[in-house]
Amino acid sequence: MQRFEAKVALLTGAASGVGRATALRLAAEGASVFGVDVDAEGLEETGRLVADAGGQMQGACFDLSQPELCDQAVSACVEAYGGLDVLGNIAGVSRFHIFTEITEAQWDFVMGVNLKGVAFMCRAAIPHLIERQGSIVNVASVAGVIGQAYTVAYCVSKGGIVQLTRALAMEYIHQGIRVNAVAPGGVDTPMNQKLEFPDGMDWKLVRPYSGRRGQAQAEEIAAAIAYLASDEARPVHGEILSIDGGVHAGG
Ligand SMILES: NC(=O)c1ccc[n+]([C@@H]2O[C@H](COP(=O)([O-])OP(=O)(O)OC[C@H]3O[C@@H](n4cnc5c(N)ncnc54)[C@H](O)[C@@H]3O)[C@@H](O)[C@H]2O)c1
Repeated sequence: MQRFEAKVALLTGAASGVGRATALRLAAEGASVFGVDVDAEGLEETGRLVADAGGQMQGACFDLSQPELCDQAVSACVEAYGGLDVLGNIAGVSRFHIFTEITEAQWDFVMGVNLKGVAFMCRAAIPHLIERQGSIVNVASVAGVIGQAYTVAYCVSKGGIVQLTRALAMEYIHQGIRVNAVAPGGVDTPMNQKLEFPDGMDWKLVRPYSGRRGQAQAEEIAAAIAYLASDEARPVHGEILSIDGGVHAGG
């Protein structure tokens, strides 16, 4: 499949996990990828992997919790490739806190990357996407559609992405762009390998969020992002696609 021939895709979080897998997938399908992340080394490695597979990728480091840097990231992509067809908001952070102990700085950190960053990437990208009738795919989480103990800030940020996706879908419904999201359960990525847990957690309250099929692979989430971003999903707009082995369905 070459669904992204002559298309430009800006992917955040491209240095690792789902972002890297999506960069590889979209580039393999013909996209010119512009990867953005705070991790310069990881971004370089993704660029190498994409090039080794015969794909096209450029990258730049921006901290997307800063709206002015979101503007710069989108401008850098448009400057590099002359336009924008796909915005994949994949970057994110996950933190565990006991809610009564969370500090304002910890709250702001999670919201800044996961929600403010996504909103302001959309703000910067939408005029360009309208020009090329493109599409946005946001990465929410099962934690954005059901409650999860000890991750209140994460759940609120991902629930915010769910509503951001739907609200943008309605605001731009007549302007030819599409806005969708995926809501993965557990995915086997570095995010889950470096989690830290506060003392005093009651582990009985922490459900497994991967469903009965176990953790998803990053490539499986990338495949869903590629579908939603592609013209094959032309009638799909404002959708939150659960990829969680049945957890959201009650499993
Ligand atoms: N891994 C899971 O189990 C899981 C489950 C549901 C949803 N998600 C979501 O999937 C997305 C991808 O996560 P992943 O599992 O690939 O994790 P990951 O840690 O492998 O990748 C996240 C990337 O985001 C980047 N990033 C963090 N802060 C940033 C910032 N301020 N500006 C720019 N880039 C920044 C990181 O450097 C990293 O490369 C995230 O939004 C995450 O919340 C992950």
